[in-house]
Amino acid sequence: VNTQNTSMLHYWSYFAKGVLYTLGISLVAVIIGVLLGILLALIRLGHIKILRALATAYVEFVRGTPLMVQIMFVYFGIGVFVNIPALIAGTIAVALNSGAYVSEIIRGGINSVAKGQVEAARSLGLSQSSTMRYVVFPQALANIWPALGNEFISLIKETSIVSIIGVTDLIYQLRIVQADTYKGVIPIVIAMILYFIMTFSLSRVLRHYENRLRHPATE
Ligand code: ARG
Repeated sequence: VNTQNTSMLHYWSYFAKGVLYTLGISLVAVIIGVLLGILLALIRLGHIKILRALATAYVEFVRGTPLMVQIMFVYFGIGVFVNIPALIAGTIAVALNSGAYVSEIIRGGINSVAKGQVEAARSLGLSQSSTMRYVVFPQALANIWPALGNEFISLIKETSIVSIIGVTDLIYQLRIVQADTYKGVIPIVIAMILYFIMTFSLSRVLRHYENRLRHPATE
């Protein structure tokens, strides 16, 4: 007897779990990614040549290889020595990947501050570090902050690839529902809509704060 309930409503908890995992992995990964990205950016701005070369090599290599193969490398690579849960491996891999992208975001933000700003500050007698601290960083932050929000949104979509190592994210759950219900398309449509709700609402929230950053007096 077929006791399977093929109504999608019946599987809401599968999708809910998938959404939670997807959001959780993305959030943890973006937080670690931002910390790592700041560290990489500071190293690349610094004066220690070897570290600078290593940080640049890391950023280039991570950005030049697919996230998918990085996830497999972290999971199976660490797996040679110790068995770690796919969830941990997947989150680490996404975080390591994000760090490289965040480092570029920060570098771009700092480079985008007009050179005349530095020259003006320096000619007014500010030291190199005071110029960085009081003139460059505050202006760079206005560019960096929204881009970090976009990185979080990107990760929500990019984490979909962790399903290949068996992390129970939204993609993984959609596959389970497909197998369980023999329905190919509806679970995909539901997952798409759920992804869209996540990214769209997040971008709306971010835009709100972005506008406040631009026009602080009007709120
Ligand atoms: N999908 C691309 C890749 O596999 C981009 C990854 C984007 N990562 C990021 N942290 N924004 O390499």
